Amino acid sequence: MSALTLALRAAMANRQPLIEQLHQQQTDCYRLFHGSQEGAGGLTVDRYGDQLLVQSFHQTLSRDELLQLAEQCCEQLDKQFLLVYNDRSQGNSRIDRSDPIYAAEPAALEDLVGREWGLNYRVRGRHAGQDPLLFLDLRNARGWIKEHSAGKSVLNLFAYTCGVGLAAAAGGAREVVNLDFAEGNLAVGKENGLLNPTLPPMQFVQSDYFPAIRQLAGLPIAQRRGQKLPSYIRMAQRQFDLVFLDPPAWAKSAFGTVDLLRDYQSLLKPAILATAEDGVLVCCNNLAKVSLADWREQVLRCATKLGRPVREWQQIEPAADFPSSDGQPPLKTLVLRF
Ligand SMILES: C[S@@+](CC[C@H](N)C(=O)[O-])C[C@H]1O[C@@H](n2cnc3c(N)ncnc32)[C@H](O)[C@@H]1O
Repeated sequence: MSALTLALRAAMANRQPLIEQLHQQQTDCYRLFHGSQEGAGGLTVDRYGDQLLVQSFHQTLSRDELLQLAEQCCEQLDKQFLLVYNDRSQGNSRIDRSDPIYAAEPAALEDLVGREWGLNYRVRGRHAGQDPLLFLDLRNARGWIKEHSAGKSVLNLFAYTCGVGLAAAAGGAREVVNLDFAEGNLAVGKENGLLNPTLPPMQFVQSDYFPAIRQLAGLPIAQRRGQKLPSYIRMAQRQFDLVFLDPPAWAKSAFGTVDLLRDYQSLLKPAILATAEDGVLVCCNNLAKVSLADWREQVLRCATKLGRPVREWQQIEPAADFPSSDGQPPLKTLVLRF
């Protein structure tokens, strides 16, 4: 039996209690194998409803390895999955898609629906972006938002496909604003809204983070030396009861640079100012090399310096489908109460 087969078998056994719990919670999207922590670095296997999504980041899987892995998952979960294999190794060169195993059946590439916390989410095996449409390590944070949104105005920053916004709408938020600069990501967010027709409609703002959050916070929009700023949508200064800040590790735009390692403050400061005096800010940092202790200290210090000290903080950890042997998961999420 191969090392991968054994590693996958152990991963499945470890997840059995969690999987049962997730099914009871009407969730069928979860990680089945988190290779970096479970014996095969650079390999992940996720379930998204009827789809089994295998991704390799370091080494391409052979046909046999892939088939064996898929068979093992189907057997363990007693279900026939639609297999999609996305090889993201070797500078993202895609593999030989003339082989039907690598190409995926047409049914696997159709628009599908996955469930999480009783909500429907769009699932698409391949699309313009590389990442799946729902980040699974954020499931517990979405669950927390669903539990704590009743009656609140909610601002979802770097909204991507608006999973957090949807959780807030399902939790009874009185208003949900999703903000992202990528039209395609917000379009999936709108699809997610339509897939849950009983929920109140959400709002979608397509804008760069920096001008939008600085206007909401009542801060000036900095002009870069000698450079004219592109036009941006105008927004009035205002605060939200609940703000969710989950930026990418690094991204550059005409308005500024998102850099979680060197400059979390420039993201955090306006987000704090756009949070109501007695409101809640949930913020994330997904950089593995930043420790929770260091980042938390930075975050708390920034709030104090702004004259908005944090009254109480709490950490939300990813669920057991994202194990971390050292207890330091890359995705760190803090709930800050002011
Ligand atoms: C890692 S995703 C965030 C995940 C998301 N919070 C979720 O719940 O799944 C990063 C998102 O940030 C957006 N983004 C990156 N830079 C941005 C900027 N300067 N302004 C607005 N959105 C930005 C991208 O379009 C992408 O949707």
